[in-house]
Amino acid sequence: MPTIVIKLGQERAEGYINELHKLDPDLEIREWPEVGDPADVDIAMVWKMPHGELAKFPNLKLIMSMAAGVDHVLSDPQMPRGIPLVRVTDAHMARSMSHWAAMNILRLHRETAHYDALRQRREWPPERAFDADAIQVGILGLGYLGSHVARMLQAMGLKVQGWSRTAKQLDGIPSFQGADGLREMAASTNFLVCLLPNTPATVGVMNAALFALMPRGSYILNAGRGAQLVEADLTAALNAGQIAGAALDVFTVEPLPEAHPFWDDTRIIMTPHHAAEVHVPAVAATFLDNIQRCRDGRPLQGLVNLEAGY
Ligand code: NAP
Ligand code: GLV
Repeated sequence: MPTIVIKLGQERAEGYINELHKLDPDLEIREWPEVGDPADVDIAMVWKMPHGELAKFPNLKLIMSMAAGVDHVLSDPQMPRGIPLVRVTDAHMARSMSHWAAMNILRLHRETAHYDALRQRREWPPERAFDADAIQVGILGLGYLGSHVARMLQAMGLKVQGWSRTAKQLDGIPSFQGADGLREMAASTNFLVCLLPNTPATVGVMNAALFALMPRGSYILNAGRGAQLVEADLTAALNAGQIAGAALDVFTVEPLPEAHPFWDDTRIIMTPHHAAEVHVPAVAATFLDNIQRCRDGRPLQGLVNLEAGY
């Protein structure tokens, strides 16, 4: 039986198909929507498959998310249940995400947008100091990515703490859980970095009430999913000075609509859902390994807990 591939963005699909064929020239790959008889297909590799499409394959044995997040699959009300779902966990992606977080924490802390604007005006500002020890990072989500980011920031000498569903034992990184834990962590965090999966429990977690608990002049970084930030609350908190700036990679609606107020808000650093890139050859090798594991009935890599939703 063949594998099908879908990826919005032709180049990305071709990259995966090439890598998979390098590893296994006999693998039959059909690219959606040219799938022939849906009954032939036993494995789906998907990124943002239109809702309802997966349900059309009666013999699916495995669904592979071509991303770390699986909200694009689980939000499909017709997603076939009872079929294992695996997702990407890639060391290259974790390093890339750590770079995004480190870069933006430092850009915000060192006010690079302000200095760029001064330079444009050929202005030499009065001397001022930046206190490196004033940075206290709080990471929402200490999973595959969040724990890597936490350790990388810690190695840079930053103080780091994190919030997750279950307690973590990460040396020198205090771990918080639950609503009380979130409030406690927020009160002593001035750089909040979100790396949560998009589930009903994480929607809107970064909101006015949370911002109000943080020290005045704090910063928000979001590379989880747009739904986790109440965007209007961020704008209000920026206007009130409670939040001093933000770095956002993900948005409620992507691409960000042309009329969205964030475009003109220089207090917000934006990247277009590019915080972390995968290493396609490594991820393709994992996909192939999972196909083999599925066929042999062996445990899968990156298996998603369908109950928890991530
Ligand atoms: P992961 O390994 O599943 O980690 C998720 C973390 O979130 C875990 O620590 C989990 O707690 C915690 N969590 C989940 N629900 C929670 C809740 N209700 N309260 C508190 N903590 C909760 O996922 P990952 O690989 O690190 O990826 C995280 C997310 O990053 C993805 O789902 C995706 O949305 C996003 N992402 C974005 C980009 C980008 O380019 N912007 C790239 C990759 C991924 P436990 O550890 O206790 O389970
Ligand atoms: C990207 O957003 C991912 O979930 O991998």
